Amino acid sequence: MIDLSNATPFAEGGNRKCFVHPNNKDRCLKVVHPGLVEKIKKNKPWYKKLRSSDSFDDNLREQAAYNQKALKNENQDVWMHLAKWYGMTETSIGMASETELVRNGEDIAETLESYLFREGLSDDINKAIEDFHMWLREHLIFTKNLIPHNLVLYEKDNKIIIKIIDGLGLQAFIPLPNYSNFFARRYIERRIELMWSRIHWDLSGRRGNWK
Ligand SMILES: Nc1ncnc2c1ncn2[C@@H]1O[C@H](COP(=O)(O)OP(=O)(O)OP(=O)(O)O)[C@@H](O)[C@H]1O
Ligand SMILES: [Mg+2]
Repeated sequence: MIDLSNATPFAEGGNRKCFVHPNNKDRCLKVVHPGLVEKIKKNKPWYKKLRSSDSFDDNLREQAAYNQKALKNENQDVWMHLAKWYGMTETSIGMASETELVRNGEDIAETLESYLFREGLSDDINKAIEDFHMWLREHLIFTKNLIPHNLVLYEKDNKIIIKIIDGLGLQAFIPLPNYSNFFARRYIERRIELMWSRIHWDLSGRRGNWK
């Protein structure tokens, strides 16, 4: 078992603490904040409580999302814009998801959010976003809403590359995109449209509703 008892997370989100794997600097271990799953469940209406606790655990939801059809593809291009998944790993502070830790050179990659707040919509980042959207359309990768703090950036061959590090899966309650390419394409176009809304909302001081 991996001991994280005295480790300091390099980042944390609303749901999970993120650690550099103590035996591998290129892997990330994410542990759900203690007590969070029970707390989320407690605040849901009674009919949603019927669902098992597992459905509120971000690591387990993510594991299911990495099982989507598009990622069964042998073509390695499917990992071009998505952190790799290495399964669940037991640690001293609970079960962790183990994924690729995205680095930009030696540094841990910065988020699209922090880049946009500093540089705005530069030509380089517009190009990176365009490449990322082309990849989503080509491979029909299902994601929840694409929020800038769930995307990170690194440089390769003088270009910025975007990688998804959180938010894989389907937003939809009824998974129609799983059953037909027509719905899959429509679903992806909607995620792209909403990603732009979210970027413009972030950049305009977050006024009103981003959708
Ligand atoms: N694989 C990774 N490579 C590099 N940085 C990462 C990686 N995973 C997470 N991070 C950093 O840690 C932060 C939090 O991680 P993550 O988004 O997975 O947590 P979360 O609690 O699930 O987030 P949310 O608040 O969106 O639910 C990210 O915004 C990012 O800065
Ligand atoms: Mg996140």
